[in-house]
This record gives sequence, structure tokens and C-alpha cells, in this order.
Amino acid sequence: MTEKFYLTTPVYYVNDIPHIGHAYTTIAADALARYKRSKGYDVRFLTGTDEHGQKVWKAAQAQDKSPQEFVDGIVDRFKTAWDKLNISYDDFIRTTEKRHQATVQKIFGRLLEQGDIYKGDYEGWYCVPCETYWAESELVEDMEGRKLCPDCGRPSELLKEETYYFRQSKYQEKLLQYIDAHPDFIAPAPRRNEIIQFIKQGLKDLSVTRTAFPWGIIVPADPKHVVYVWFDALINYVSALGYASSDEEMFKKYWPADVHLMGKEIVRFHAITWPCILLALGVPLPKKVFGHGWWTVEGQKMSKTKGNVVDPLALSSEFGVDAVRYFILREVPFGVDGDFSMKLFIERFNADLANDLGNLLSRTLTMVEKYFKSQIPNPKSQTNTNDQITKEIQKLIDETPETVDKAMNELAFSEALGTIWQLITKANVYIEKQAPWSLAKKGENEQLALVLSTLIKAIKLVADQIKPFMPETSSRINAQLNLGGEKIAKGEPLFPRIQK
Ligand code: ME8
Repeated sequence: MTEKFYLTTPVYYVNDIPHIGHAYTTIAADALARYKRSKGYDVRFLTGTDEHGQKVWKAAQAQDKSPQEFVDGIVDRFKTAWDKLNISYDDFIRTTEKRHQATVQKIFGRLLEQGDIYKGDYEGWYCVPCETYWAESELVEDMEGRKLCPDCGRPSELLKEETYYFRQSKYQEKLLQYIDAHPDFIAPAPRRNEIIQFIKQGLKDLSVTRTAFPWGIIVPADPKHVVYVWFDALINYVSALGYASSDEEMFKKYWPADVHLMGKEIVRFHAITWPCILLALGVPLPKKVFGHGWWTVEGQKMSKTKGNVVDPLALSSEFGVDAVRYFILREVPFGVDGDFSMKLFIERFNADLANDLGNLLSRTLTMVEKYFKSQIPNPKSQTNTNDQITKEIQKLIDETPETVDKAMNELAFSEALGTIWQLITKANVYIEKQAPWSLAKKGENEQLALVLSTLIKAIKLVADQIKPFMPETSSRINAQLNLGGEKIAKGEPLFPRIQK
């Protein structure tokens, strides 16, 4: 039986347009999904959008639209972005879809019935104009002792609101035991340690409904309440599989998730609240929650007000989708923060893509054209006992897939690409050392054939190995190699140097 692999990205808020940060998680998930598919797994790759909550509601009001109209307008931007970036998702869930709402309501009802959700009061400092609760520590006190809203500066009031609580505290010990018994559950290690520390301080019950605004999933038993966005959003990972619906086949097949991918800032929800909900439901926990690092732009946090938001689509139309996919997965180890700058992007583009990869292909094919009339030579022997350098590169060709596999299983995308680029570098050095042009001059045709066919093997392997990361480039290389045909089909340079 084929093994399944279920992976997810966060459902992204629709009050923002997709930027390089959203693209990062989604491209990483895509590379992993494509890799696992190539290994024969039955992959399910889920992404989607988080469409409820106060912010969306306000953004819609500001544009004089109904919330549904507003979200419908934005969701297409995500879908278009993912199409342009070659994201091969299997399912796209919107939290406003019926299939999702129904599952959330079922889960809420079930937990209410079993006493894991209960009614209470939420007390806190509330800014009426901003419709936001603030922690006392966040408020600014004025000369008269009034507590001012940190956003608008107006006095806030101590308000009590009816709310439903999720009894998260009850699952604290069970969760700690689970984390302890499953060292790979939360990754990378710093995230795991942060979460353990946090839980050990004591889990409080979580307020999971709001009454202050109407844009959310209604609690059927008490319709003035809508479900809190995070409780709503987390459930997408199972509602998309039909959990608690009349057809749970997908859920049975794909759950538990093999990995939930996300940025480090939302690991807490995924490694605490989400598993507590699942424990309460008696559903197995996901195998891994992975929190990657955050991108800044030239040292600054990305923000609309600063005007430094990097648009992955603009970047792709200028330099190609694969250059973007390559850069963000190669530049920083997955799990560590990164800083984006055009200077670094161009440097990597020119060094790794134009020079290393692009030149390797074009030099090799030029030589096949020149010395073998465009036909890939087939040497009589695949080895030459006196030729240590060929043996070395053949060994590297043999070992590369396994090294890449190990890195991919650890979600070490940058390392996997680094391994592939080691082979590319080695192949370029191989050309220099073998100097095929002097072999040709000296008439050493058998050695010349061995060198060029070895280079073609290396390039073929590179094309296979980069496929999950750079699907278009992989096809373009294969088209130029034209292995099924009689002659190579040397084409345009893969990545023309950027002159800047
Ligand atoms: O948090 N660097 O949605 P969101 C790296 N709806 N990744 C970044 C990033 C950056 N600068 N900016 C965003 C939400 N991301 C909730 C999720 S899930 C049940 C609900 C990526 O639109 C990263 O994956 O704010 C981060 O976790 C996510 O976008 C936040 O997306």
C-alpha cells in the first residue's frame, strides 16, 4: 500500500495581499509535496484562507462591502498568486465555506456537550471605538489615572462580556506528556523548548467566542456568539478532510497530518490550542508542527506603512518563478530568520543560477555539439582505471540522492539545495580539470566521450533533483538534453546574468 503524506500551510488572513512571507511557507510546502510525490507517496497538500474575525469585518466596512463580498474579492488574489508560483496544492479551503462551518459547529457542540466548553464572563479593558480588549499592561495611564487605549489614545473601560471558554487547562499534563514522548512533534528545537516553558507556566482556559461583532461562525445553541477566529481557523486542517461530516473517508485516509508548516509566531496556537482541541475530541495529534523563521526586508519588518512589502509576483515576472523559489529556500536554513535584499537576490541569481547551473548546461551542450555532432556520446567503458577524477564525480552522482533525501526528511531545504549545488560545482571543476578541448585536440576521443557522458549524467541528476524546487527549470534542462531523441536541443541560457 502506498504511504500517505498530509501537509498544510496556515490559512492566511484575507485582510492582506499575499507577500513574500506567505509565499515562503507555501513554496516550502510545495517543494516538500512535490518531493514526496516523486518518492511515491500519496500526498495531500492543503492551503487556504482565514476569512472571519473582527479585522476582516472592519476592512469590509471601510470599503462599504458586505464581509462576504469583501473576502470573495481577495481570495482570488491568493489563488492567482499560488498558480503563478506553481503551487501544486490539492485542496484550498476557505473558512467561510459550508464544509468548514459545519465541522466547526459540530466540534463546538460536541465539546460543549462533554463539558470541555463552558459559559463564563470575560473581563478586560475594552476600547469601544477600537472594539478591542487590551491587557492592563498594554494600557497607558494618564495624569487622571485613566487607562488609555494604546492604539487610539482614548480612555478604555473595564467591561464584562459573556463568553464561552475552552477547558484547555484540563489537557496541560496530557499535552506535556505527549510532547515529551514525541521529540519530533515540535520543530525546530528552539520552538519546542519555548512551548514546553510556556505550558509549564500553566495553561489558562481560552475564550473561544465573541459577541462584539457578527462576522464569524455562529454558535448554534447561542446565536449571539460567534466562534473566535483561532478556534475556527485551526479546525480547517480536519474540516478539509470531511471530519465530523457524513463522509469521513478522506479524514480516515490522511489524518493525522504529517506536518503543519507555519511561521514561528503562530506555533503556540498549533502546538498548544490545536492539540488540546484534538485531545478533547480523542483524535490523534499531528506528527509535526514546524515553525520556520521570519523574513525581514533590508533589516526591517515588512509593513504596508513602511512600503517595503516584497511582492513575489513582481519578482517572478522580472526574474522567473524558479529564481524566487530557489532564492527563498536556499538563502536561509529553514527554521532560522532571514533578511531579504535585492542585492543578495541578484548575487545569488548570478552566482548560483546564471554561473554555476546555467553555464554547466550551456558549456556541456556546446561541447557535445562541437565534438559529437550534437549526439550524446556513449563511451565503450564507463570507467577509466587511471582516471580518479571521473570516479570521484561518479561517486558523488551516486550519493547525492540519498544526501538530499536525508535533508528533505528533516525539512532542511537549504541543505538539500546545497547538496545539489555541490554536485554542480564539482561538475564545473571537472570540466576544468579534464579540459575536454585539449582531449579533442589530442584526439583522445574515448576519454572525451567518457567525460561528456559523465557530465550529461550529472546534469540529468541535477534536473531530477531540482524538480521539486524548480519544476520549470527541470523541464527546460530536460528539453535541452532531449534524452529520448537523437540529438540534444541546445537552447537559450537558463538564467541570463542580471546586469545591475
Ligand atoms: O496568522 N516571514 O495568518 P497570516 C515568514 N490566519 N513567513 C511569514 C511572514 C514573514 N515575514 N509573514 C507571513 C495567520 N508569513 C492565521 C493563521 S492557521 C490555522 C491561521 C507566513 O495571514 C507564515 O507562515 O497572518 C506565517 O505563519 C503566516 O504567513 C501568517 O499568515
